[in-house]
Amino acid sequence: MKSMKIIQPILVALVLYIVIILCIIFKMFGNEPDSTLKLQDLTIGSSKFIDKKFQHAKTLINFGLSKDIFKEKINILIQFVNATNNIRLQRHFYNLLESIISKSDTEFIIFITGDANDWMLAKSIIISIYKKIKQHFRLHPIMQYLDINAVTKELSKIILVMQDLFSSPAGSYYSKSLFFIPLALHRINSLRNVTHLIMIDVDIELRTDIRHLYNIFLQMGPEQLFGLAREQQPTYRHITSAYRKRHKKTAVGNPPPFGLTGFNSGVKLVNLTSLRHSKLYNSYLDYPVKLKHLADKFSFRGHLGDQDFFTLLSFLHKDMFYELPCQWNRQLCEWWRSIYPLVFDQYFNCTPPFFAVHGNCDTKIESYY
Ligand SMILES: *[C@@H]1O[C@H](CO)[C@@H](O)[C@H](O)[C@H]1NC(C)=O
Ligand SMILES: *[C@@H]1O[C@H](CO)[C@@H](O)[C@H](O)[C@H]1NC(C)=O
Ligand SMILES: *[C@@H]1O[C@H](CO)[C@@H](O)[C@H](O)[C@H]1NC(C)=O
Repeated sequence: MKSMKIIQPILVALVLYIVIILCIIFKMFGNEPDSTLKLQDLTIGSSKFIDKKFQHAKTLINFGLSKDIFKEKINILIQFVNATNNIRLQRHFYNLLESIISKSDTEFIIFITGDANDWMLAKSIIISIYKKIKQHFRLHPIMQYLDINAVTKELSKIILVMQDLFSSPAGSYYSKSLFFIPLALHRINSLRNVTHLIMIDVDIELRTDIRHLYNIFLQMGPEQLFGLAREQQPTYRHITSAYRKRHKKTAVGNPPPFGLTGFNSGVKLVNLTSLRHSKLYNSYLDYPVKLKHLADKFSFRGHLGDQDFFTLLSFLHKDMFYELPCQWNRQLCEWWRSIYPLVFDQYFNCTPPFFAVHGNCDTKIESYY
């Protein structure tokens, strides 16, 4: 009887202890929302749509943990202007979209700039892609049409100024105007509800799930308006050569990792909210004189549209830009190699694996890994 009196409180303590432990365990694994499940689904290791060879690339992709962005459909904007008789453009468009759709198990809103004919063509191409890869057909993309004529009219003042500074003299107004639309996406009325957007050139092919690119938004600071990969040729070394002659120690036009190399605009992450808020950025759109002064300061006369604007701005306002890893816009063009043979590879080097391959200056990408 005496021993029972001693054992009883010990038993009670033991039961209490077990109950507390169970409570802790339930708190950890019990009523957590299903967002954890989704996060796991998106990681490279467990996603069934990711090629094995990208597994070791995990370190290059930082998976952020904001809940909201994972719930979002991915907004993608692709320019598809004057495509009717342009077989090359159609083929690029098919290739790009097939690479996006077939490697991703996610929902998209695809914005297409073009006219009514381009729109019909784009729709039929996208339907044919979904028919070809039947298993994803359940994820119907939402397609949104951005009338290129209306957009050009909306942004005409900005476009005129930019054309003056960053275009070569030949060519039609219309064909060039589309290269300047990316500067002022936040001012397009039909995009007024859009907060984040990936804009991507048609001569690009995705090699992994575009969701991983979208997730990079989570690493961008609130003051970073665009995520862009650097230009992978000495293009801006050339364009700034007069300035570089006057300023021997400048970083402008120098190769990575320390130079201000300039950007390529083939892949753009655009935070439209921060663009709307940025007084500094918008001052460059609204006061052309400011931009003209900047161009004069660096003796900068470009010919590559929006990426010239971003590059020029980055010389003075580096903080506006997030540098995407080169693997997210692996450019294949080697046009400048023969002119700058000694330094070319300092610009061109980029370590595989590549997540988005860019066949710029008409370089074939079919077999490039
Ligand atoms: C479409 O392309 C054709 C041929 O290159 C050109 O003549 C025409 O001006 C372009 N139209 C528009 C609306 O850009
Ligand atoms: C933007 O959102 C508002 C409010 O939800 C809606 O009424 C409007 O139609 C939307 N506009 C566009 C262009 O999507
Ligand atoms: C986009 O910019 C806004 C405004 O600066 C900021 O609050 C938001 O966090 C940014 N979004 C992302 C995903 O970085």
